[in-house]
Order: sequence, then structure tokens, then C-alpha cells
Amino acid sequence: MGLFRLGFQSHRLHLLHSVPETVSVSRSTFWVQNLTHNKIIKHFALPSSSTLRSKLVIAKALSTEAGAVSQSTKMVKAIRVHEHGGPEVLKWEDVELGEPKEGEIRVKNKVIGVNFIDIYFRKGVYKTAMPFTPGMEAVGEVTAVGPGLTGRKVGDVVAYGGNPIGSYAEEQILPADKVVPVPPSVDPIIAASIMLKGMTAQFLLRRCFKVESGHTVLVHAAAGGVGSLLCQWANALGATVIGTVSSKEKAAQAKEDGCHHTIIYKEEDFVTRVNEITSGQGVEVVYDSVGKDTFEGSLACLKTRGYMVNFGQSSGIPDPVPLPALAAKSLFLTRPSLMQYTATRDELLESAGEVFANVASGVLRVRVNHKYPLSQAAEAHADLENRRTSGSVVLIP
Ligand SMILES: NC(=O)c1ccc[n+]([C@@H]2O[C@H](COP(=O)([O-])OP(=O)(O)OC[C@H]3O[C@@H](n4cnc5c(N)ncnc54)[C@H](OP(=O)(O)O)[C@@H]3O)[C@@H](O)[C@H]2O)c1
Repeated sequence: MGLFRLGFQSHRLHLLHSVPETVSVSRSTFWVQNLTHNKIIKHFALPSSSTLRSKLVIAKALSTEAGAVSQSTKMVKAIRVHEHGGPEVLKWEDVELGEPKEGEIRVKNKVIGVNFIDIYFRKGVYKTAMPFTPGMEAVGEVTAVGPGLTGRKVGDVVAYGGNPIGSYAEEQILPADKVVPVPPSVDPIIAASIMLKGMTAQFLLRRCFKVESGHTVLVHAAAGGVGSLLCQWANALGATVIGTVSSKEKAAQAKEDGCHHTIIYKEEDFVTRVNEITSGQGVEVVYDSVGKDTFEGSLACLKTRGYMVNFGQSSGIPDPVPLPALAAKSLFLTRPSLMQYTATRDELLESAGEVFANVASGVLRVRVNHKYPLSQAAEAHADLENRRTSGSVVLIP
């Protein structure tokens, strides 16, 4: 047990084990302070009619309980967000971590994946309660399991990608049904680089629109975390892959990742180029994560009855789409999210299983191009947001 102090509103502070019974208490509330962490851990109000002796008896009993609570609460370092804004709002702080409850596990993170969605939450494009710890992807070792939980044990290496938010932490509590075991053959860095991004590629190519041999697909941000995997996987499925990127260096990477054609969309009009490449036919599907800057052009690149899959908005949310814009070519439009495609345990296991199998067979070569200490998450965000990264970005606690 840490060192505790009992405080009354009169600001008299006494070591709990030596509270003098003669102390005069003018008010009826007191608190218990954990001196080890310099934190008030419990506040109590007592009936004003209580005698001094009964107040002290109750105070001692309650503070013992508070001590027990505190004993099972450990402090870990994490990135915290108290206000929306730029990378500077990512603060490196101490946070309390409790014990896992029923259905939960505690996981000591080895590697944490950084995703563009973390930027949306930081900026407030997507909302969650404040303050919060960002991050939706990590690999770690189980350090405790909740009461009665079977199927997971201390020492297991597990991965998760998606909900809940909170992976930018040395250790975190997770629902056991949201994690999957990491095959021993897969390095934790690779697993943390591919859980969320790989499962995204899986549902986009295999379920949202089913890519088949002979299809032509257009992938925007083809050298990015998800983009790099989409290109490799679509190529392996037998599709002709066209990828857009912002620089020559990224174009070279996209080529290595299976893009048959690359377009530097900062310099060339991608609609004209897709038209040339497909001899005016257009593509079966566009995987568009850029959003505002590319959306309209993406619709123009589709062939009749083509699929417009807008799964992100790194440049901003696209303008509303008038239905007649789809009618001209009988287009399909969807705005899918990984969360809805891994909503059941079976879907999660199937999706992750297919990703790990593709890593093992060499279909997916995972590019872990950027590693940062967890404490420097702000630098990682600035680089990702300013298009200075390619492939996957990870944080190491
Ligand atoms: N719907 C889902 O379930 C789901 C799941 C995962 C990811 N996503 C989305 O997929 C996209 C990719 O995620 P990621 O984590 O792998 O990131 P990423 O692709 O590695 O990074 C974003 C890339 O977008 C491109 N980009 C174009 N315009 C941009 C702009 N104005 N600002 C910043 N970047 C711009 C940049 O590539 P260039 O420099 O080559 O242009 C940049 O590198 C994101 O939009 C994310 O929200 C969606």
C-alpha cells in the first residue's frame, strides 16, 4: 500500500495511521490523498451530526477501502488529448490503469500502429469524450485477465485494430473479444503495422467490392499505409492496378508494390491519365481515401456500373453528392468503415486470419518505414499529416 494522508476541509492534514483523536473537525467532508502519486483519490461527505469519534472511525474504514482501490490502480505513461488541435495537443502524461473487469484483459503494448483516423480524432473531425488517449491499433503481451475469463492467459501476444480508442499507452485495458492472437511467425512490429490497415485492405478488396482477375482498379494515396497493401493485394488478385501518389519517390514505391501504372496527381490530371491507360473504358472500382480533392475525379474515372468506394478523407470531407451524378453511369457509391466489417467475432477472426496468412505467404510485404518513441507521437502525427510518410508508421513504448 502507498503512503496515504487524511485531509479535512479545514486543510489539516495528518498521516492516516497517526490521526490524533483529539483533532478538532469543524467541517464534515474529508479526503484521502495518495502521497506516492500526489493525488486525491477519494472524497467523502459525513453527516454533520457525526461525533468526532464516529467521523474518525468511518474515515479510517473508508480510507482503507480507498487504499485498496489505489493499490490495484497502477500508473502508466500515455499520450493524452485535452483539447482538439494540431500535433502539439498530444501530451505525454501519467494515467491510472485499473484491473481488467469481466470480459477484459490488460495488455502491455510492444508496438502501436499510427493511423490517419488518429488525426481525425485529434482534430475533432471524429468525436470522443475528453480527455482521451488516441490510437486504435497495437500489439502487446497480456499482463492480467479479468475474473472468470477463459481463452486468454497472461503472456499471450495479442493484436487489435479498431475500437476501442486508447492504444497510445504503455499499457491498456481491452475487451478480450476485440483482440486476436498473433501467430509466432509474425514479428510484433509487422503485426502492429498491419492489423487495422491490413484488415481495411481485406474488407475493401474482398467484401466491399470483390476484386477479380481482369478488373482494373484505381487506388489513391497508393504509397500510404493502407494504399501500399491495397496495391499489393489487388495485384495478387489479378487486377490491373493504377495508383496515384504525390511524388516520384512514392511512385517508385507504389511500382514495387504492384502498381502497373502510377500517376503523380500533384503534377498530372489523374482523370485524363486513367482515361488514356484504360483506352476510355474507365475502371471497375476506385478506392478513394483522399476525399475532397479527388472525389469528383474518381467518379469520372469509373466505367458504367462501377463502384465508388470512398473510405477516408485525408484532404477533407467530400462535398455532398447529387444523385444524378451517379445516374449517368448507374454507379454504386459506398462510404464503408472497418468497424462495420469486423463487427462480429467471426468477421474479425476471418479478416485478421486472411491478413496474417497473406503476410506468411509473401503476398503482403509490410513496409514499416517510420518508427517513433511513443512519447514523440506528435512528431509522427505531423509527418503523417504533412504527407512525409509512406507505408506504415509505428510508435514504440
Ligand atoms: N474506412 C475505414 O474503415 C478506414 C480504415 C483505415 C484507414 N482509412 C482511411 O484510409 C486513409 C489512409 O490511412 P493511412 O493511415 O494508411 O494513411 P496514409 O495513406 O499513410 O496517409 C495519408 C496519405 O494520403 C495522401 N494525401 C492526399 N491528400 C492529402 C492531404 N491533403 N493531407 C494529407 N494526406 C493527403 C498522402 O499520400 P500522397 O502524398 O501520396 O498524396 C498521405 O501520405 C485515410 O484517409 C484513412 O482515414 C479508412
